[in-house]
Amino acid sequence: MEDPRISPVKPRFGREIILFPLPLQGHITPMLQLANILYARGFSITIVHTYFNSPNSSNYPHFSFRPIPNGFLEGQASTVDFIALVTLMNVTCVGPFRDCLAKLLSDASKDRIPCCLITDPVWHFTQAVANELNFPRMVLRTSSISSFLAFCALPLMQEKGYLPLQDSRLEEAVPELPPLKVKDLHVIHSKDPEDVLRLIIAMAETMRASSGLIFNAFEELEPSKLAECRRSFPVPIFTVGPFHKLSVGPSGSLLPQDKSCISWLDKQEKPKSVLYVSFGSLSIVSEAQFLEIAWGLANSGQHFLWVVRPASVRGSEWLEALPSGFLEGLGGRGHIVRWAPQHEVLAHPAVGGFWTHNGWNSTLEAISDGVPMMCMPFFGDQRVNSRYVSDEWRVGLHLEYKVERRKIEDAIRRLMVSEEGEEMRERMKALKRTVDECLQDGGSSFRSLQKLTEYLVSF
Ligand code: UDX
Repeated sequence: MEDPRISPVKPRFGREIILFPLPLQGHITPMLQLANILYARGFSITIVHTYFNSPNSSNYPHFSFRPIPNGFLEGQASTVDFIALVTLMNVTCVGPFRDCLAKLLSDASKDRIPCCLITDPVWHFTQAVANELNFPRMVLRTSSISSFLAFCALPLMQEKGYLPLQDSRLEEAVPELPPLKVKDLHVIHSKDPEDVLRLIIAMAETMRASSGLIFNAFEELEPSKLAECRRSFPVPIFTVGPFHKLSVGPSGSLLPQDKSCISWLDKQEKPKSVLYVSFGSLSIVSEAQFLEIAWGLANSGQHFLWVVRPASVRGSEWLEALPSGFLEGLGGRGHIVRWAPQHEVLAHPAVGGFWTHNGWNSTLEAISDGVPMMCMPFFGDQRVNSRYVSDEWRVGLHLEYKVERRKIEDAIRRLMVSEEGEEMRERMKALKRTVDECLQDGGSSFRSLQKLTEYLVSF
């Protein structure tokens, strides 16, 4: 059987794809994975990127990298208000990006024939640049299809009065977006709330004007949402996920991965006995929440591997807020790292549950490895993903309320050692089998990747 990861459909044929990721971990990772997938299909790859959060080019000697200035001063940008950040960059990057793309196009040769630009949809200004240079632009949306549609529906949600959120209505169902409740709607805090709406409108308009959409998703998981997306965005749509299962090569991680946790997992005797805990690359908790999490983990009596990203506890550099002797007191039941090799961790036989913020990459990675989840969304699409995980796919449980040690402790036991957790694990196994099938020869993602390759060659 053909291995889609390593069998280019054609030998190298001089066709180049130019990719422009948004400089945030959750967006860079899938864009670089897509680049690896396309490279394996025979395309040359050029990555245009900002200096801000630039990817580690030394990990990708087979790609060409073109940095462009951010156009803002150090200190003007922070991922804490990333709507403000991307709003700023959609203005400051126009000139540098246009110059860079124009140069790449004018330097084309018979060995390097640029055929398509693929950008994150948040870079909405790039559609106008592509039009001006008469060059096709496709879009890689790095979220689930369901959360993307819910995101696009925010102006309607505002019109219908669901937003701004009112405490008294949080538990109400949203009939326009089942299975979501009002509290699951994308709330992204920004200094100017109008920026969020402006961003959605600009994204959606330029996606409709693009040459096509690519999702890190698979058809069988969200069939009705995919159909809805096709109706709403009448351009070619390709679902070729989960990318990380098709992409061979480094992880795209901006932080160094601490591999010590793999040897720690190797030492665990019981399969599926460890809870992996990670809240992604942007989430920040207060010191009080951090302590509730720590005590919830400790009191659950379960083994855990916990990623505490530097500066992810407000006011601390790393673990200063932990009571002294906390880890020692666990007798080897817990291990904490700054950043883990997450794909290896989730695929490890000792891991039996994932306490996650439900960023889309993490959610899809857990599904691909059949690991049931304990969901604690922080913002944006994470809330939608969590609701789908708990209520639609039923492969996880939802920590819906205040971060509180007793609730955490109970939820961990429900996930790791109860019958309810076992049922979720069984449903997850079935979902994982679907993932395996969609990637195989003739499977939905396999076919979609074939079509995408042919489409890109046609430009
Ligand atoms: C952000 C948003 O939070 C998310 O909601 C959106 O869907 C994408 O952008 P992020 O918070 O980084 O993403 O979460 P996620 O999408 O899960 O991506 C994190 C990536 O970092 C995953 O690919 C994960 O494998 C990787 N990771 C995480 C590590 O490699 N090591 C870690 O220790 C933690």
